[in-house]
Amino acid sequence: MQIFTDPQALAAQCRAWHAAGEDIALVPTMGYYHAGHEDLMAHARGLARRLVVSLFVNPAQFGPNEDLESYPRDAARDSAIAESRGADALFMPEPGAMYAPDHATWVEVPQLAKGLCGASRPIHFRGVCTVVLKLFLLTGADVAVFGQKDWQQQAIIRRMARDLNVPTRIVARPTTREADGLAMSSRNVYLTPDERAVAPQIRAALLAARDAAVAGETDAGRLKALVLAHWAERLPGGQPDYLEIVHPESLEPLAVVDGPALMACAVRLGKARLIDNILLRS
Ligand code: PAF
Repeated sequence: MQIFTDPQALAAQCRAWHAAGEDIALVPTMGYYHAGHEDLMAHARGLARRLVVSLFVNPAQFGPNEDLESYPRDAARDSAIAESRGADALFMPEPGAMYAPDHATWVEVPQLAKGLCGASRPIHFRGVCTVVLKLFLLTGADVAVFGQKDWQQQAIIRRMARDLNVPTRIVARPTTREADGLAMSSRNVYLTPDERAVAPQIRAALLAARDAAVAGETDAGRLKALVLAHWAERLPGGQPDYLEIVHPESLEPLAVVDGPALMACAVRLGKARLIDNILLRS
């Protein structure tokens, strides 16, 4: 596995692979790998001749009071994991190599970024889209793999790629979970033992809502009330940031669940802000 810190050196290697007729899969990450990242890499490994993994804690997607400084990092361990998962290249740029001091160009999909996580993280998806498009342009990736835990992110990236005629195919992988159902996240490391013990109730409540939808409940308000009551009883300390039912592609809020519907949430638990989602109907 080659390690690149210089964007132009990575781009040159990717051009050489393409010139040799080799296609490229990309897994963009911010590091501190868990089994969910390994699943993305393992899946991507099977999609193309060459696998590029990027590891960049992208400052542009963190708001002023967010956890950019404290975001967990372990480059040595991550590099060993990427290599063991068959990466041909690991791209680990410094922020200055990705953003000039007078960087002024942003990519936005405001219609899809206004709700859900975007409501409390107003610049987040602008930062995500900008860095992901940079990665697509640098690598010329034929395919890129993202996790469905960040449902809104993959929906926005899909729309960005469609609207800008980016030829990279976007593949989404199901959320990887701990045995008790908690969605894997690098931020789970912020949880105290007591918070970790109750955190699976986030998912348990979403499953109860899906069961209710499958049993015939179509009223979005009642489905959300069921989840909030579950958390009030079984998730001590949990502060819902949002709980919404939306169309899975347009991300527009739904009042009635009579077709494709996604329930998505973010919950603050101690220092962690945890997100999860479930398809109520597909
Ligand atoms: O999902 C993430 O880890 C990040 O948002 C991404 C896609 C790597 C962009 O920085």
